[in-house]
Amino acid sequence: MKRVITYGTYDLFHIGHLNMLRRARALGDYLMVAISTDEFNTGKHKQCVYPYAHRAQIVEAIRFVDRVIPETSWEQKTEDIVNHSIDVFVIGDDWIGKFDFLKDYCEVIYLPRTESISTTAIKNTVQNGKSISR
Ligand code: CTP
Repeated sequence: MKRVITYGTYDLFHIGHLNMLRRARALGDYLMVAISTDEFNTGKHKQCVYPYAHRAQIVEAIRFVDRVIPETSWEQKTEDIVNHSIDVFVIGDDWIGKFDFLKDYCEVIYLPRTESISTTAIKNTVQNGKSISR
């Protein structure tokens, strides 16, 4: 059984998130998603619209996702990969090269992002009273 892990904030769940989770799951047989906690986000000066419990429950309900765990620090990735017997670490290519140090522990894959959507874009769009372009 090939086990895959990915990390993210997953605030205001959108089609880019869904595409990422579908493609991540297709790389193996089991997908674990580590979602940043509100405390971890505060440390990054990042503020979510949805609290951790909501973001985690939404992602947990996606059928490509087998398990959600909290992401509480930058350093936990190596530990997660070892403790959960992970074979593949996957993340969007906005992070390209940043996690190459994990190649000592598992395969590292950067997937292309879905174009023209992000949580930041949704926040800006809603503030401006427009709709997301299709
Ligand atoms: N992602 C993606 N395509 C998008 C947006 C996100 O593939 N259009 C991927 C990211 O690369 C990451 C995961 O989805 O692997 C979670 O991303 P996250 O940072 O939570 O979402 P963003 O929409 O990028 O949020 P923000 O605008 O706050 O950076």
